[in-house]
Amino acid sequence: HPERTKRTLPDLMTAGTPLVMVTAYDYPGGKIAEGAGVDLILVGDSLGNVVLGYDSTAPVTLSDMIHHGKAVRRGAPNTFLVVDLPFGTYHTGVSDAMRSAVRVVQETGADAVKMEGSTPEVLEVVRVLARNGIPVMGHVGLMPQTAVAQGGLRVQGKDDDSARRTLEGALALADAGAFSVVLEAIPARLAKLITERLPVPTIGIGAGVHCDGQVLVAHDLLGIYEGEDKKIAKRYAELGRQAREAIEAYAQEVRTRAFPTKGNGFVMKDDVLDKLY
Ligand code: KIV
Ligand code: NA
Repeated sequence: HPERTKRTLPDLMTAGTPLVMVTAYDYPGGKIAEGAGVDLILVGDSLGNVVLGYDSTAPVTLSDMIHHGKAVRRGAPNTFLVVDLPFGTYHTGVSDAMRSAVRVVQETGADAVKMEGSTPEVLEVVRVLARNGIPVMGHVGLMPQTAVAQGGLRVQGKDDDSARRTLEGALALADAGAFSVVLEAIPARLAKLITERLPVPTIGIGAGVHCDGQVLVAHDLLGIYEGEDKKIAKRYAELGRQAREAIEAYAQEVRTRAFPTKGNGFVMKDDVLDKLY
C-alpha cells in the first residue's frame, strides 16, 4: 500500500461509497486494519467480550479503553480512529463526560469518541462535546452497555414503539451534533428509513445493506473463535483454527525434536567449547 492520507471528517461525511469500519484492540490489529485501507477504525468496548474475556461490556473501564486505544493508534497512525466511551464514563454529568472524552482524545490520539443511546442526558453530552471540538459518533438500536435494561442482546425497532424510538433517537443525535450514528441490530427497512432521513452517515451492524457504511468486530470477521456463528457477522477467515493448528504443529515438533533446527540457532568455535570440557 502506498502511504494513504487520513480521511478527514468532512470527507467521511460526504463519501459517495459505503464507509468501511472495523474494530481493533491492539497494535497488530491497528496495523492490519490500516494496511487493508479501511476508512475508520473503532476501538470498541467489545474489547470486554472479545479480548478481555468478560461476558458483557459493562466491566470495561476508561483506563482499559485508553490502554488499548494507544496501542491501536501506534499501529494505525493514518486512519480515522474512533474510541468507545465505556459504560459509566459519560453518565454522571456533562463535565465528567467531557473529562472522559478529553482523556481519550489526548492520551490515545483518537479523532472521535463514540457513545451509546439518545437519552436527554446523552444528547446534552453530545451537544457539549461537539461544540467543544470533539467529534462524536452516536449508537442506537441494540446497545450492549445497557442490554440488560433492553431485555437482553436482541434486535431492536421491530414494533412501532421501538422503531419510533430508534428513528427519533438517531435524528436527535444528528441534531445534537453527532457526525455519524451506528445502527446496531435493527430491521433493514428501518435502517433504510433512518439512513434516508438522517443528515449524517449511518454505520450499520446487523442493520442491512442500505446504511452509509458497515462495521464489524474484527474477531468475528476473522473467525478468531472457532465454532461461533453470529447472524450479523460474516466470517472472512478462520484465524482461530489456523492459530490452533499452528500451535499444535509447534507442540508436535518440540516433542519430536524437529524444532528447533540448526538454522534457528547459533554456532561457536570448537576451541572455546573445548575449554569448558
Ligand atoms: O464495541 C463495538 O465493537 C461496537 C461496534 C459493534 C459498533 O460498538
Ligand atoms: Na461498543
